[in-house]
Amino acid sequence: FLSSKGETALLIPQILEDQNPSSELAEYNLTAQRSTKEFIKGIKTETYGYNGDYLGPVIRVKKGETVSIKLKNLLGETTTVHWHGLELPGDMDGGPHNGIQPNETWNPQFTINQSAATLWFHPHPIHKTGAQVYKGLAGLIYIEDEVSQKLNLPKDYGQNDFPLILQDRRFTKDGRMPYDLGMMDVMHGFQGDTVLINGAVNPFLEVPQGKVRFRILNGSNARIYNLHLTKTSEFWQIASDGGFLEAPVRLNQVDLGPAERAEIIVDFSNFKTGEVIQLQDRDENLMKFIVKDKSTKNVTIPKSITSIPKIEPSSAKTTRKFVFQGMGHMVNINGKQMDPRRIDEELKINTTEIWEISNASTGMMGGGMAHPFHAHGVQFQILERNGKEPPKNERGWKDTILVQPGETVKAIATFKYKGIFMYHCHILEHEDSGMMGQFQVK
Ligand code: C2O
Ligand code: CU
Repeated sequence: FLSSKGETALLIPQILEDQNPSSELAEYNLTAQRSTKEFIKGIKTETYGYNGDYLGPVIRVKKGETVSIKLKNLLGETTTVHWHGLELPGDMDGGPHNGIQPNETWNPQFTINQSAATLWFHPHPIHKTGAQVYKGLAGLIYIEDEVSQKLNLPKDYGQNDFPLILQDRRFTKDGRMPYDLGMMDVMHGFQGDTVLINGAVNPFLEVPQGKVRFRILNGSNARIYNLHLTKTSEFWQIASDGGFLEAPVRLNQVDLGPAERAEIIVDFSNFKTGEVIQLQDRDENLMKFIVKDKSTKNVTIPKSITSIPKIEPSSAKTTRKFVFQGMGHMVNINGKQMDPRRIDEELKINTTEIWEISNASTGMMGGGMAHPFHAHGVQFQILERNGKEPPKNERGWKDTILVQPGETVKAIATFKYKGIFMYHCHILEHEDSGMMGQFQVK
């Protein structure tokens, strides 16, 4: 009944306009609002959006710049806005403690002090993250820096550099998108049967006959994607969650857990005008790329991109262990569920620590599923996956780490900002059930 299948052009989110002419301070306005959107031709679905009917604009900032954002809440319910992947003080982070009451405005201010990256923002109210993200609240943050501006990579927004936000949804026959959780949804997280790309079902995108960059966000509540393309078995991943990899990694598929990002470059130059290439998750078509005219841009895939200063394991003061376990409403970390009045881990500012994350949910009785680990306000480097070196495309900055059943991942980070931050499973139904804890940096 999805009659619009294949006929919708990919929507490209607006770049949010900076309201301040000075180059040191950038000022943005965001409104979280209720709306409706036509996902299915002729049917209006109730949604939430930032400055629009569904999803939100791209906030594009530069390293070194101070950013002030005025966030108005017109949802009629409490929300928060979390800057996923940004390194910043705890009281600006938008976690469950930074509640914005209905009709109120929150005005966080922070300085961008990290490398070029594709990050995102979404609500984080306690027990309601899943529902609010599901209705459409999510947007992208692009950080640019000297490296990203100098590199000869595709970087013309909407021309050869496109955001792709992947989400799965379930529509009722009359076009509603209710967030009603059944038993299986509580167990495994919400799984939809219809994938939206930037808010459209199976859209198409005309691409130049050259190298094209896609900044992909898995914005789903729980689904893990295994992405690949038809007609070509290769692409290059150039960035992970927190920024560029040291060198492009040639891949024929990429797995993305909830909240993870991958920037990839696809070379369409050997295709004929009009040829159609599908982006697929396993054997499901998600969207299609239609090759357009000759590209005039001469973009090369560089041999090396940047250098990432390695955080030495010997510089770590502590190793902390986080065990993800339990199932359904009982999911927990280290035997504890989220309590906003309790600080679970205390850290000292400017210290380096190793975090060892284990997924103990093995076998049928233990749940046996992957948990995407995420911590606020910090970017990690993965040291080991099950005692082995991580794959090449995970040797950059990571803020979300998919941990398979039985797996243990060691990651290292330096904690540069004070405040109270969350760590949790980014399957939003697990987070809302309490698979979350708090660390305080003093
Ligand atoms: Cu993307 Cu605590 O979240
Ligand atoms: Cu989980």
